[in-house]
Parts: sequence; C-alpha cells; structure tokens
Amino acid sequence: MVKPLLVIAACVTILSGCASRSDTLYEELGGQAKINEIVENFVYEIEYNDTILPYFADTDIDRFMEKFAEQLCVFSGGPCSYSGDTMEQVHGGMNITEADFNLTVDLFINAMNKANVPHTVQNKLINRMTHTREQMLYL
Ligand code: HEM
Repeated sequence: MVKPLLVIAACVTILSGCASRSDTLYEELGGQAKINEIVENFVYEIEYNDTILPYFADTDIDRFMEKFAEQLCVFSGGPCSYSGDTMEQVHGGMNITEADFNLTVDLFINAMNKANVPHTVQNKLINRMTHTREQMLYL
C-alpha cells in the first residue's frame, strides 16, 4: 500500500516542479503588471512624438491600450487571448513607412527601458512583435 506521506511528497515535488518552470517570456518580463507599465509608457512616448502621434489622431486610446496589452501577453506566452482586430485590418491603409515603423519600435524600446526591462528580454519580445512587420507596411 502506498503511504499517504509518500503521495504527499510526490505531489509537492510535481507541483514545485511546475511552479519553478518559470521559463516563459511572460514570466521573465514580470507578468501582466509589467506589461501594463510598458503599455502606459508606450502611450506616453507616442503622445510626445510629433511624427507618430498623428497616426493616433482618431484612436480610442483605452481600447488601444487594452488590445495592445493583450497582444503583448500573447506574444510573450502569457495566459491571455487577443480579442482585437488583425494587424492588416488595423494598420492597412495607414501607409506606414519603414522609417515610421522603425521609429515606433524605438518608442517601444524607450517604453521598455523606462520600465527597467532587461535588454535580453527586450530583444526576445521585439523579435516576436516585429514578425508582423510585413503585414503593416505600405498596405
Ligand atoms: C511592432 C509593431 C506593431 C504592433 C505589434 C502593433 C499592434 C497594434 C495593436 C494590437 C493595436 C490594437 C488593435 C485593435 O484595436 O483591435 C494597434 C492599433 C494601432 N496601431 Fe499598431 N502596432 C504596431 C505598429 C504600429 C505602427 C508602426 C504604427 C504607426 C506608425 C501603428 C499605429 C497604430 C494605430 C494608429 C492604432 C489604432 C488604430 C485605431 O484607432 O483603430 N502601429 N496596433
């Protein structure tokens, strides 16, 4: 017969194994709180950039923040789902130039720097975000 103590020990081992497997980018980033901080910083960066701000002239900023945060959560492997529009739907017709795309990425990097995100973690997130680049330029 299996002793109850052994069962408990096995359960604890399995659970702690799961708990310590904090290897997703989401966890490296610092979870939802850090994502929200980055998104707030990003909106601030956009507000103070005369080149990028005009793109957001008619934007519902609360919606943007919500959907953008969801997307960052998904890109980083977090426990979320994205409920916004596709990247083509959102950015198509905006005539985003390559220079403006790169500038927006720079603003996003500023936002991560101000949230003290380590550069190795920043690079991983940027890689996952910019795979959508071709869906946005000159559409
Ligand atoms: C790394 C690249 C980018 C990603 C991952 C991204 C992602 C997103 C997401 C998730 C939304 C919200 C979608 C929704 O409301 O359903 C959004 C909206 C928006 N994005 Fe981007 N974006 C990127 C680059 C850019 C660039 C380069 C510009 C312009 C220079 C831009 C301008 C906008 C604007 C203006 C909106 C709001 C659209 C509206 O008002 O309906 N984005 N973006």
